[in-house]
Amino acid sequence: MSNSKNRLEELLARIEAANAAYHEHDAPEITDAEYDALRREAEAILAEHPELREDAEALAQVGAKPAAGFKKLRHRTPMLSLDNVFAAEEFAEFWRSKSRFLGHEGAWELVAEPKIDGLSISLTYQGQKFVRAATRGDGAEGEDVTANILTLRDLPRQLPEDAPEFIEIRGEVYMTKADFLALNAAQERQFANPRNAAAGSLRQLDASITAKRKISLFAYAQGESSAPVAATHCEYLQTLKRWGFDVNPLSKLIPEGDGEAFQNGIGVARGTLPYDIDGVVYKVNDLALQSRLGFVGRAPRWACAWKFPAEKATTLLEAIEIQVGRTGALTPRAKLAPVNVGGVLVTYATLHNEDEIGRKNVRVGDVVELQRAGDVIPQILGVVKSGGGEAYVFPDHCPVCGSLAVRADDDVVRRCTGGLSCPAQVVERLIHFCSRLAFDIEGCGEKTMQEFYAAGWLHNAADIFTLPTHEAEIAKREGWGPVSAAKLSAGIAARREIGLERFIYALGIRRIGENNAKLLARHYGSYAAWKAAMIAGAEIGSDARLELGSISGIGPAIATDLVAFFVEEHNLHTLAALEREVRVLDAVSAAAVDSPFAGKVMVFTGTLTMARPEAKARAETLGAKVTESVSKKTDFVVVGEDAGSKAKKAAELGIRMLTEQEFRDLAGF
Ligand code: IVH
Repeated sequence: MSNSKNRLEELLARIEAANAAYHEHDAPEITDAEYDALRREAEAILAEHPELREDAEALAQVGAKPAAGFKKLRHRTPMLSLDNVFAAEEFAEFWRSKSRFLGHEGAWELVAEPKIDGLSISLTYQGQKFVRAATRGDGAEGEDVTANILTLRDLPRQLPEDAPEFIEIRGEVYMTKADFLALNAAQERQFANPRNAAAGSLRQLDASITAKRKISLFAYAQGESSAPVAATHCEYLQTLKRWGFDVNPLSKLIPEGDGEAFQNGIGVARGTLPYDIDGVVYKVNDLALQSRLGFVGRAPRWACAWKFPAEKATTLLEAIEIQVGRTGALTPRAKLAPVNVGGVLVTYATLHNEDEIGRKNVRVGDVVELQRAGDVIPQILGVVKSGGGEAYVFPDHCPVCGSLAVRADDDVVRRCTGGLSCPAQVVERLIHFCSRLAFDIEGCGEKTMQEFYAAGWLHNAADIFTLPTHEAEIAKREGWGPVSAAKLSAGIAARREIGLERFIYALGIRRIGENNAKLLARHYGSYAAWKAAMIAGAEIGSDARLELGSISGIGPAIATDLVAFFVEEHNLHTLAALEREVRVLDAVSAAAVDSPFAGKVMVFTGTLTMARPEAKARAETLGAKVTESVSKKTDFVVVGEDAGSKAKKAAELGIRMLTEQEFRDLAGF
């Protein structure tokens, strides 16, 4: 158990670092395949130890931020990602777990579709007319690429009369291998692969450039619509085809048991297909079952992507460098002799942490084997030829500030103890504070934060709001001018009001990512209530600490990190300074405002016709908090067959009890 816990922590730290590198710094440090492998291993541990899930915040993130320059469009329903599997046994287990989730009997009927290696797109039709297109972006908000999509000649601009009044259709924009080769041959700029070429061509601010490039589109998924289009995914695809969309001709209805054969077949055909694919997507055919399965975190429960294995190469490890992160973590990375892996030039690979270097016994001067999938920095698999160098000695001092770097007994990560005296940590925190999911301040990226920190203007997050007082000086700095300086000030001014959930996230407290911030915001409602509870919660056994521990999803480790933040004098000082600069808005429950369960505490007891995980997920989607035991704080108890002591207690306390049918009626399903 403690081994699993340690390993999970290590995995989560890596995933978190990878998320930050990819989403916040736009500079991925590990490959898609490696990222997937980390997530898979973490999920496997969580499957065995569900009690550890509360610590698994890092698993909930998705997507990349929309680029500046494009108008942003908010997706009516989020565009999410897919869970990955890599082997037959995993595939089988994926579907078994969904059977358990729903209490579904028998094999699943699936639609298997090639997983196109392009970029996902959302197409909106209103009154049967094409009105807009958006990229996925971070899943919640994408870029408005309507003008660019209109350059696709085959895109249906008008749907037939029987199409719903409003419908959003999702699909993949891609470039064929032939068009990619022709494009690279015709221009100086070389794209690494067809996916980059498709993305680079679609995301042109000047749509006339897109028009000159050949990009294509396969439609494959539903967004929102004003009326149902089909009862099964197969039928939906056929409808799309009838409406004039390109639908992948290899998509096929198969019983779950045929998954492996289909996967192998596509694997063989892969090289001969006119476009790149990186796996196969398997989706539940029955749309009613899809909607019951719903979503968890970043992915639907009704589909998985079975990915192909990654590509490999060998090269020389030239140096090991150390980077210092927001929480002081020292992360090693390998500088490599540039090598082409599957068409992409690779110069760095992550080494994760001290133990990993030891485990792989990699030394400067070794020839190492790498693996990558996608256009990101790859993973080192191992040494293929030793260069006879010395074993690497991990620094015990921070390479940036020189403070002692220590490793707690149960931690895989060595951390700089410099805290706020370490420039690297301060700058990383500032970057996080301004990042898109936090204060989302335009123009306050990595370079700007470094520059203004070096200028002595920024000591803590609250100082960001004093930057406009330096506007005249900023305008005179190299690379700046009156326009960009004024824009920066305006960007800062625009963010003086912020929702509680973003505010909590922005503070960069260890283990408080987007999801946990949301849980806390929903629970406490206001900044004042949250802060008071965190300060009071420092005392173990206090009511405030017990309340914190009772929030579904917030476990002891998270609670400890939270209250520890409020014990530090400098954090309280920063909070007080922030209170003078910004107004934190109370949290409104994200769940349907008119849901009778929004903000309510619920308990399920007894046997229900739907499996417990489904019931819990349904209630949570409607804004409820589901707890295990009945107390005065419980608002509803849903009572199934053979309910025992919980129902009795609910009756004693006079808590509203619902039958399963009443719950369904109120929940509207
Ligand atoms: S269905 C809720 N079907 O893969 C997500 N996705 O790894 C529904 N992709 O973001 C997506 N081919 O960009 C689906 N036939 C296919 C796909 C496909 C490629 C991409 C898509 C998605 C990503 C997830």
